[in-house]
Amino acid sequence: METVIADMKQGIDRDAIKTAGSILKDGGLVAFPTETVYGLGADALDEQAAKRIYAAKGRPSDNPLIVHIAKIEDLYKIAESVPLKARTLAERFWPGPLTMIFRKKECVPDGTTGGLGTVAVRMPKDDIALALIEAGGGFVAAPSANTSGRPSPTKAEHVVQDMNGKIEMIIDGGEVGIGVESTIIDMSEDIPMVLRPGYINEKMLREAIGEVMVDPALFSVESGVRPKAPGMKYRHYAPKADMIIVEGADNKVISFINEKIGEALTEGRKIGVIASDETTECYSKGVIRSMGSRKDELSISKKLYSVLREFDSLGVDTIYSEAFNTPAMGQAIMNRLVKAAGHQIINV
Ligand code: TXA
Ligand code: MG
Repeated sequence: METVIADMKQGIDRDAIKTAGSILKDGGLVAFPTETVYGLGADALDEQAAKRIYAAKGRPSDNPLIVHIAKIEDLYKIAESVPLKARTLAERFWPGPLTMIFRKKECVPDGTTGGLGTVAVRMPKDDIALALIEAGGGFVAAPSANTSGRPSPTKAEHVVQDMNGKIEMIIDGGEVGIGVESTIIDMSEDIPMVLRPGYINEKMLREAIGEVMVDPALFSVESGVRPKAPGMKYRHYAPKADMIIVEGADNKVISFINEKIGEALTEGRKIGVIASDETTECYSKGVIRSMGSRKDELSISKKLYSVLREFDSLGVDTIYSEAFNTPAMGQAIMNRLVKAAGHQIINV
């Protein structure tokens, strides 16, 4: 299949959006930008179309998809009951990087929800995404547009790497603004529970609706504790190299990693370092990449996945990463890094 690439870096191309909408209505696949990561879209109410997403990604079929909408009213067409707290969150954070889970209505096929009785819904904050969702009929199922097990795409080039020849169209809207996937909160129980951390953090949620819980599986390394979001159990975002996070005071982290670089050099191994703008100069040798400035959390979240992708192509043997426990997005950033590292953390 030839994949058409529609360039919308300079703004929306209405003709191309119309074409993309028809592709979705005909059961095809279109990758598109959102403010978090690129999504791989299909008509959420068409079971066969949703199945094609699983095939293109190589995704296990028990892992449900998020349904993207362009108008808050459309939530009521697919969610069985929408509690008051969910309305409050929708008004405060939609369009935006928040996904909410509800009991689903009959019209949402099992093929979209992985057989679950609940449906995840999000209204993204991106003009291209919103126009595409409208053109495609209003309900677009979209996981991140990467091959299963690879880092999520934050640029159209990443989508091309993984999806070229497998889907009908890729819309290039440039680099995304946030870079980690949406916060997921389950609204189907009395006390809402965060299943995946993102830009909308616990503090922001509590300020809006009071008590929220966090899925205990997020903090557990034991495989016996099952996360409530089926997708969170997979070792996502796994770089090809072995990856280790080094946590501690800055000077200790730097000298530990430099020591490791020295050892590796004598053994002929290639080391990668994930550093920050504040520390890149402090590492002696090896392949050093900065995630961004610690003073600008979005600069870090935005680069996280592209740095991991870059390391895959650089062929390093081991990656040492600094920890990024930053104030607002630290939980979201560390959740992805810790998973990429397969939970290997060293405290120095
Ligand atoms: O930012 C995002 O959310 C991006 C963009 C494209 O919108 N999408 C995204 O989708 O990250 P995906 O499929 O990569 O991750 C969706 C996560 C998975 O972990 C899945 O298991 C969980 O949401 N999920 C979806 N429906 C669910 C449900 N009904 N109950 C529990 N977890 C659900
Ligand atoms: Mg994903």
